[in-house]
Amino acid sequence: APCHLDGRWLPLNQAQVSVLDRGFLFGDGVYEVIPVYGGRLFRFDEHMARLAHSLDAVRIANPHSRDGWLTLLRELVARELAHSGQGDQLAYLQITRGVAPRSHPMPTGLTPTVFAMSQPHQPPGADQRREGVACVTARDFRWERGDIKTTSLLGGVMARQIAADHGAAETILLRDSGHGHGLTVTEGSSSNVWAVLDGALIGVPPSHHTLAGIRIELLRELCEEEGIACHLRPIAESELTIADEILISSAGREVLPVTRLDGEPVGHGALRGKPGPVYARLHAAYE
Ligand code: PDD
Repeated sequence: APCHLDGRWLPLNQAQVSVLDRGFLFGDGVYEVIPVYGGRLFRFDEHMARLAHSLDAVRIANPHSRDGWLTLLRELVARELAHSGQGDQLAYLQITRGVAPRSHPMPTGLTPTVFAMSQPHQPPGADQRREGVACVTARDFRWERGDIKTTSLLGGVMARQIAADHGAAETILLRDSGHGHGLTVTEGSSSNVWAVLDGALIGVPPSHHTLAGIRIELLRELCEEEGIACHLRPIAESELTIADEILISSAGREVLPVTRLDGEPVGHGALRGKPGPVYARLHAAYE
């Protein structure tokens, strides 16, 4: 597969970076995952705005203008299409602070390492859409800057493994809200979390504890089109157990129904443990 590293195009299995790259030593970098449908980047400008936020937060200068990124990523997508024949892709880009002797403070004057690859997009299969997925809950032990899409992902990796150890698809993370409301949902290890309560789709308000998923605004728009009420407000742990539906969203998983939580079926009545109507409408709208 083709990839892009520091201005050069080369096969992915030949791309190499220095062991002194701060991305390797410190996880000192940021990234984006952008879905591509039919060879076209989806919500490109939104992903670029979030990339700019991450870069600003960690004080790395953006190595490309918006149009520079667009040119680079379009070429990447075209090369991957020629390679795999797949127009539906997940484009990945990352920028690390660059190569320097190991020392914690941010060195000045480094040239950032810029890497991009794209792989065929394997959206959730028909079985996951029909049956939904199982999730588990866990305390959110990650750091307090979840708004930065950083390659320092050990917290997310460890959180996700809790689900994997239980044969579940995602770990839904809970944090003390600090406002006397007990534990509230932050997000999944690599997704945003939604609950359907009283017919309305509820999402988590933006904060430093969560990534501003590009699908948050997208699902809000789709709710508007579909006439489904949608609010962003804290979701208490106890609300997950009474929710009619639970959904997760991300670039790779699009929108998916959660039908088991900590081993218990989600929802009520005939739809208990089954994907619900809000999911079905949002998935159709997303398609
Ligand atoms: N993850 N929250 C976290 C912690 C994430 O890592 C992601 C995405 C999301 C969803 O954001 P979006 O809708 O923009 O994909 C929320 C990507 C896909 C990943 O790390 O592979």
